[in-house]
This record gives sequence, structure tokens and C-alpha cells, in this order.
Amino acid sequence: MIIAIDGPAAAGKGTLALRLAAHYGLNHLDTGLLYRAIGRKMADAGLDLDDPEAAGRVARELDPADLGHGDLRGREAGELASRVAVHPPVRSALVDFQRSFAARAPGAVLDGRDIGTAICPDADVKIFVTASAEVRARRRTDELAAKGRSVSYERILAEIRERDERDSVRASAPLRKADDAALLDTSDLGIDEAFAAAVAIVDAKR
Ligand code: C5P
Repeated sequence: MIIAIDGPAAAGKGTLALRLAAHYGLNHLDTGLLYRAIGRKMADAGLDLDDPEAAGRVARELDPADLGHGDLRGREAGELASRVAVHPPVRSALVDFQRSFAARAPGAVLDGRDIGTAICPDADVKIFVTASAEVRARRRTDELAAKGRSVSYERILAEIRERDERDSVRASAPLRKADDAALLDTSDLGIDEAFAAAVAIVDAKR
């Protein structure tokens, strides 16, 4: 079974994907981490993030060890990721890795932006997880505050809007709900409710 989870930044995809993978005994791939590692590597090497060829080279040379880099989950890496993710050579370099991951037994949950539309168009289940930008910004701000990092809600909201815009307007595999994906809006749901809704979607499809 392959479950494709897509959606905008901070919609709760990662948490849902992890919990679904544990629930159904599937492998899990956070595909955002691949783009984050490429952005981080380019920035660390002083390369131009807007150069598609340089970005493609870094993507083709990506090593599993690069995914263990310390601060890939943070906001800065997210921003770097969305800048390199617009380049077609970067996206095509990552296709085979993601597809072979999905094909491995016993199956997998992949979360990202283009899993249901481009990477696994034949996934057994597709869920497009979303929430209003305001709710996503509020959750992100609260998460950071819980870690003792105070960042203003307005600033996080602006970052989220900017990332949504860049991910949605790019020409190559933009963020888009696949026609056959179920829509899961988590704006008014807690994590347990969102998980229960996702399980109901999966169980109805398989
Ligand atoms: O999901 P995450 O926030 O880690 O993704 C970081 C960035 O990587 C996204 O904003 C997007 O630009 C890019 N990305 C993508 N395709 C994916 C996963 C992530 O373009 N499948």
C-alpha cells in the first residue's frame, strides 16, 4: 500500500504521515527533508540557490548522510528548500529515489507537495492535508514558543504565505491537490481528530 500525503507548509502532514505509517506498519519518507538537505548543502557551500544547474548537481550527489544534518527541520532550511525545489533538475534528480522508496515492501507513506500528482500518481490513497494560513501560522508560532523561541505570529504568517505562493506558482510539479485526493482540512481539528479522519479515509479506500 502506498499513501501519498500532500499539502502546504505546517498543515500537519509530517505528524499525520508518521502516525499513519506506524498505524499501518508502513515505511515513511518525509520528502521535504530531501529538498531541505539540498538547500542547506548549497548554502553551506556558498553556491547560488537560484542556479538550476548547480542545484541539480547537488541533488544528484545527495547522500543519505546529508539527511542527518543537524538543523534541517527549522525555518531557515524550509526557506532554502522551497528556493531549490523550483528547479526542474533538482526535482528530476529525486524522482527515482522517491519511487523506489515507495515500491519497497511493505509499502510506504510519503509526504510532500507532489506525491499524489507527480511521484506516485497511482498511490492507493491520496490525502491533501490543509488548514488556513492563519491556523498554520498560529500552530507554528506556538510550537516555537514551546521550544523557548519567540518569533512573532505576523512574521511566521508572512513566511508561510511566501512559501505557499512559491510552492504553488512554480512551473515544475507545483503544490496542487490531485483530482483523486481526499481533502482533509485540519483548521478545526486537533491532531487526534485529524489522525482519526485520515484513518477513516485510508480504510475507506483500501
Ligand atoms: O514539507 P517541508 O516543509 O519540509 O518542505 C520544504 C520545502 O520543500 C517545501 O516548501 C517545498 O518547496 C519543497 N518540497 C517540494 N516537494 C516535496 C516536498 C517538499 O517541493 N515533495
